[in-house]
Amino acid sequence: MKTLKDLDLKGKRVLIRVDFNVPMNEAGEITDDLRIRTVLPTLHYLLEENAKVILCSHRGRPKGERVDKYSLGPVADYLGKLLERPVPLAPDCVGPEVVQAVSQLENGQVLMLENLRFHPEEQKNDPAFSEQLASLAEVYINDAFAVSHRAHASVAGVASCVEEKGAGFLLQKEIEYFHRCIDTPQRPLVAIVGGAKVSGKLEALRNMLERVDKMIIGGAMANTFLKSQGYAVGASKVEDELLETADELLKQAKAKNVKVYLPVDVIAADQFAPDAVSKQVTIQDIPENWMALDIGPASVLCFCEVLADAKTIVWNGPMGAFEMDAFARGTMALAHAVASAHALSITGGGDSNAAIALSGEAANISYMSTGGGAFLQLMEGKTLPGVDALG
Ligand code: 3PG
Repeated sequence: MKTLKDLDLKGKRVLIRVDFNVPMNEAGEITDDLRIRTVLPTLHYLLEENAKVILCSHRGRPKGERVDKYSLGPVADYLGKLLERPVPLAPDCVGPEVVQAVSQLENGQVLMLENLRFHPEEQKNDPAFSEQLASLAEVYINDAFAVSHRAHASVAGVASCVEEKGAGFLLQKEIEYFHRCIDTPQRPLVAIVGGAKVSGKLEALRNMLERVDKMIIGGAMANTFLKSQGYAVGASKVEDELLETADELLKQAKAKNVKVYLPVDVIAADQFAPDAVSKQVTIQDIPENWMALDIGPASVLCFCEVLADAKTIVWNGPMGAFEMDAFARGTMALAHAVASAHALSITGGGDSNAAIALSGEAANISYMSTGGGAFLQLMEGKTLPGVDALG
C-alpha cells in the first residue's frame, strides 16, 4: 500500500475520500470535530504539495436521495475556517457541474463534493459511478478509516479505476496503531469490551480472546455473561438467546488461559431513567425488577487493578449508561484508569470516545480511533475493503 509520501502529488488533481460523517445538533453545528481535525495533516501536506484537492465524503444515511439536512455544506464551512482558506461545496459529487468546478481548480485550491450517499450507486459500489468519481482526478487517496469497512464506490470501487492511489496519514496511523496494539503488543494486553449488546460484538469477542491476556467485560453486555453463569440479573437487559454462546466464550477463554473479569457489583436502578431510584448491590443481590445500569465501585477497583500492570489496552464500549450522570461513574473511572496506566492505549467507537471526552482524559489516551464499525471489524480479525483496495 502506497502512502502519501510515495506519490507524486505536485500540481495534481487529487480525489481524497474522507469520513466527515460528524454529529451535528439541531442548529446544524458540529458537536464533535475529531473526524475533521484528524484529516488536517493530510490536507496540509496536499496543499504544501500544491495539489488540487477534491474532497468527498458521506454524511448520515440519506438512502440514495438528496436530503438537505445531510448536506456537507456546514462541514465545508467549518473546514474552511480550520484551513483558513475557502472550501466551496460543489452542487453534487458527479455530473457536468462538478466536472466544470474541478476543471477550474487551481493548484492549492480545495473543493468539497456534496454527500456521496445522495446517489444510490455509492453504496452499491456501482462501477460506472466509481468511474465517474475516478475521472475527476489523477490520484486517489483514502483517508477515511472510519468508513473503510464499507465496500462502497468511493471507498473500494474507485481505487481500481485510478492509476495512482494510496493511504492518507490518518488511515496509515489508524492501521499502524491497531497493528501495534493487536498484532505485536507489549504484554499484558488487556481488552475492555462494553456496550449494550453481545450480539454486535460476538466476532470481536471471539477473535480478541485468541489474542489478549486479559479481558474486562462491562456494560449491559456483561448481564448476558453474568446470567450465563447462573446469576439472577433482575430486569437488566439480557440477550437470552446468547446465554449458551456467552458460556462458550468464557470456556474458550479458560482453555486459552485468558483471564476474564466480569463485574462483581453493579449500580441497579428501578427504571432506565436519569432520575431512577438506584443503589449499589453485589451481582448476587440485584433486586428482581431492577436493572444494572453501571458497574459498581468494587468492580471499578478490581478493573483498575487489572489495568495497573497492563502494557497495552484496547477499549471498545462503555461500562454503563454513561449518558445519564447517575450511571456514568464506572465508565469515567475506567477512563481515568486507562489514561493513567503505563500502557499503550487505543480506544474506538463513538460511545467510548464520547465517554473519554467527557472524562477530560482525551489527551492522555495514546490513540483514539475515529472508527466505530471499522474499528470493530479490525477487532474481529478481518481486513477492510477500503484498505484492501489500495493494495
Ligand atoms: C461511521 O460513522 O461509523 C461511518 O461513517 C460509517 O457510517 P455507516 O455506518 O452509515 O456506513
